[in-house]
Amino acid sequence: MDQKIHSFFSPNKILLGIGATKEIGKETKALGGTKVLMITDSGVVNAGLVDPLRTNLEGAGLNVFLFDRVEPEPSAFLVDESAQFIKEEGVDIVIGVGGGSSLDVAKGASLLASNPGHVLDYCGIDLIAKRGLPKILVPTTAGTGSEVTRVFVVTDKKDNMKKVVYSNYAISDLAIVDPMLTLSMPSKVTADTGMDALVHAVETYVSMNATPFSDLFASKAIELIAKYLPTAFAKGDNIEARYHMSLASLLAGLAFASGGLGAVHALAYPLGTEYHLPHGRTNAIMLPHVMEFNLIGNRSRYAFIAEMIGKGGNLGDLKGKAALIVEAVIGLLNDVQIPYHLRDYGIPKEAIPKLVHEGMKQTRLFVPNPRNLSEEDVEVIYTKAW
Ligand SMILES: [Fe+2]
Repeated sequence: MDQKIHSFFSPNKILLGIGATKEIGKETKALGGTKVLMITDSGVVNAGLVDPLRTNLEGAGLNVFLFDRVEPEPSAFLVDESAQFIKEEGVDIVIGVGGGSSLDVAKGASLLASNPGHVLDYCGIDLIAKRGLPKILVPTTAGTGSEVTRVFVVTDKKDNMKKVVYSNYAISDLAIVDPMLTLSMPSKVTADTGMDALVHAVETYVSMNATPFSDLFASKAIELIAKYLPTAFAKGDNIEARYHMSLASLLAGLAFASGGLGAVHALAYPLGTEYHLPHGRTNAIMLPHVMEFNLIGNRSRYAFIAEMIGKGGNLGDLKGKAALIVEAVIGLLNDVQIPYHLRDYGIPKEAIPKLVHEGMKQTRLFVPNPRNLSEEDVEVIYTKAW
């Protein structure tokens, strides 16, 4: 019997569905907003995703400002800068539109608008004293899950390290998940972000911090991603595939919001900061290698994942069945054309000691991982991944 007390975190409200963003004006007003700051990046603006939202908001009588300078791996400075803009203009509600980077900047900006100092002052667990401005988060990819979690990540340019803020106040007031916004995503981004969602679900499912709630969300997400990611990759305008990938990403987000991540994210982070590969891509590269290492830590759960994605194998052979999951993940990576070795990205073998050094700074993510990692283990994993 499980003796732990479990938490479940989620936004106040989630809207999921084709055309859900048509509600944005009404919902923003319902949250008391009058002056809106939309935080996004230029790619999302150029894809034509921001204009309809802006028109809808203005149609509801709201005053809209746009901050469209979010970059991948957003810096802490960018969060401080957008919070400064909020204070100067008297903005009273924040809407993040985009991938994980834009949603994370929106979270940070809404909190910094009501709390003194800089975002780096709040990296850590529950250091934020005051609720921020109300925030609505609208993902345009299917992977980040940031629209429903209580964490956000910024890069500290001083030491080029990813730093994480955990706070219940980082959870959105409203998440609007509209699969129509993901239709124009290029297949490469579909693959990377979809694999990020898979990693969220898998890492949470085998996590030492898994809960009865995260189990439900993670297992459904894994099943949906295995089924729909190849289709969404093959045919970006397949609305059924996009719908289910948006749902899967949302479910995986709800899972890891309560259950926590693990060593895949830990060892992927240095590939992002050192080589500027997209977050989802770095997770995808590390997934089969970390999974292979982790198997003995929770064979029954890995075997169950294999079953969920239709690789059941011999029911009596737990070891063999668990091992099938690595094969299945490699099959999925091949389907969506993601090479999963560091050398495929021009990363030299000589880079491994630095990656080990950086990876060892993410030990908070080793705690919920199903197998402990020593520095030697990390080196072995990166070497196999090379
Ligand atoms: Fe992630």
